[in-house]
Amino acid sequence: MSDREHDTYDVVGVGFGPSNLSLAIALEESRGNGAGNEISSLFMERQASFGWHRNMLLPSTTMQVSFLKDLATFRNPTSSFSFVAYLHASGRLAEFVNNQDFFPTRQEFHQYLEWAQERVADRVAYGSEVRSIGLPLDTAPEQSDLRLEVADATGQGSRTVRARNVVISTGLVPNMPEGTERDERVWHSSEFLEKYRRIDPRELRRVAVAGAGQSAAEITRFLYDELPHAQVHAVVPSYGYSIADDTPFANQVFHPSAVDDYYFGTERTRDAFWRYHRNTNYSVVDDDLIRSLYRRWYDDEVRGVRRLEFLNLTRVSGVKRVGDETRVSLQEGPGTQARELTVDALVCATGYDAMKPTSLLRELDGLCLRDESGRYRVGRDYRIVTALELRCGIYLQGGTEHTHGLSSSLLSNIALRSGDIVDSIVARRAEQDAVSPTLTEVGGDINGRSLGTPLPR
Ligand code: FDA
Ligand code: NAP
Repeated sequence: MSDREHDTYDVVGVGFGPSNLSLAIALEESRGNGAGNEISSLFMERQASFGWHRNMLLPSTTMQVSFLKDLATFRNPTSSFSFVAYLHASGRLAEFVNNQDFFPTRQEFHQYLEWAQERVADRVAYGSEVRSIGLPLDTAPEQSDLRLEVADATGQGSRTVRARNVVISTGLVPNMPEGTERDERVWHSSEFLEKYRRIDPRELRRVAVAGAGQSAAEITRFLYDELPHAQVHAVVPSYGYSIADDTPFANQVFHPSAVDDYYFGTERTRDAFWRYHRNTNYSVVDDDLIRSLYRRWYDDEVRGVRRLEFLNLTRVSGVKRVGDETRVSLQEGPGTQARELTVDALVCATGYDAMKPTSLLRELDGLCLRDESGRYRVGRDYRIVTALELRCGIYLQGGTEHTHGLSSSLLSNIALRSGDIVDSIVARRAEQDAVSPTLTEVGGDINGRSLGTPLPR
């Protein structure tokens, strides 16, 4: 019987980006070693086919993580789903090695992800958007499976899927500046290529890019290179782009053991992670990209051209549409008078908010326990700590920065995290059958670590 034909799945994944793809692989490989023999699974993805931040697949952009931090290697170095296995299958292993670069292009990594997903595609329902996760009204929570309402992404109806465990991995949520609505000329970076391709480039004579992170710098360079006739304004809140620290000691924050240090650390430890190492990821740009932008600007200076303008210490504070014009309000500091910049298109590369499953969980959210700051309490096994009576597991891949640290929204740890989740699901299976609330209470056990481990508050 194929996985699609089960009445109730042991695991339903919500979203099928790299995190849940890695989970599908961990489940597949756990079958091989006997542990996950009877674990049935189905993954729901709203896109019509696999795609990883497709709208940011700009030429020459590279990964920000080593190719060895792929979907499987850190969990299983002999996995046939590794990036090295993909290179071998593609006949490019020797050429890749000769290139002497730990950081493949995003294009190549995307091809790797597509290659890997093809091998588990029988467990994926593309074009399926999960609208809600809940419990049936007529059954007690301790006897109940979860019900997922799933809409066909083409709007052709909906269906219900039942699960003993859900793994929510719906990704980051785009953040727009206050007072700024998206439209055909005001874009978030997450929709960049799609919106850009809808416009005749000749119409883009003045463009602005807001933000000082990796997305902003990549888009600024792209627009400068693609639109030789255009003025490009980079609206940068800092004095200039800051470098992403990926030096070896700082990179230790993405070491697998850092998850335990963060999770089991004190509030002070967790605070230190963020205070000292936020610049490994947020509002920072890769060294070579900063230098390539500066080089363009400087070459223009030498030629007496001013095509690339950096508006530093400036934020976008609003946008007005006047006829065909997009008027961007720029604020140079709190309390200062805003000034206007008229452009043909504004790209807000203004970052993302963390994944928030609350809207999917609806009433079920009331059974999810929270800390004093209102954030989910999450077990070391990535399972939301729920009220005693709920026997089903709600796991998170993403949205756990407050409990598991900086790698929560990144690729660095997905192979091990997926393994941890599979181990937890397998370990809890017998307990679920026996309807024991014990594991729910303490947040679960993985890899033999104590069931009674205190949860971070
Ligand atoms: P991801 O966002 O990739 O996938 C979530 C999926 O869920 C999407 O396919 C979405 O369609 C689907 N979905 C959402 N809601 C749904 C619903 N209700 N029902 C069904 N499906 C739903 N990190 C890193 O470590 N190294 C890197 O090089 C990069 N590079 C990078 C580039 C760019 C442009 C961005 C914006 C981000 C990165 N990141 C990164 C960080 C990024 O978060 C990470 O690479 C992964 O995308 C995380 O994978 P996930 O599967 O968790 O989310
Ligand atoms: P980000 O790092 O969060 O940066 C967002 C930027 O927008 C910050 O500089 C922020 O400044 C600025 N900003 C916010 N509001 C603004 C406003 N009103 N006006 C002007 N600027 C404003 O987001 P990101 O660059 O999209 O990166 C997100 C993640 O994706 C990171 O993990 C990154 O590494 C990853 N990424 C990777 C690649 C790649 O692999 N090649 C490419 C792109 C992105 P403040 O901090 O001052 O608010």
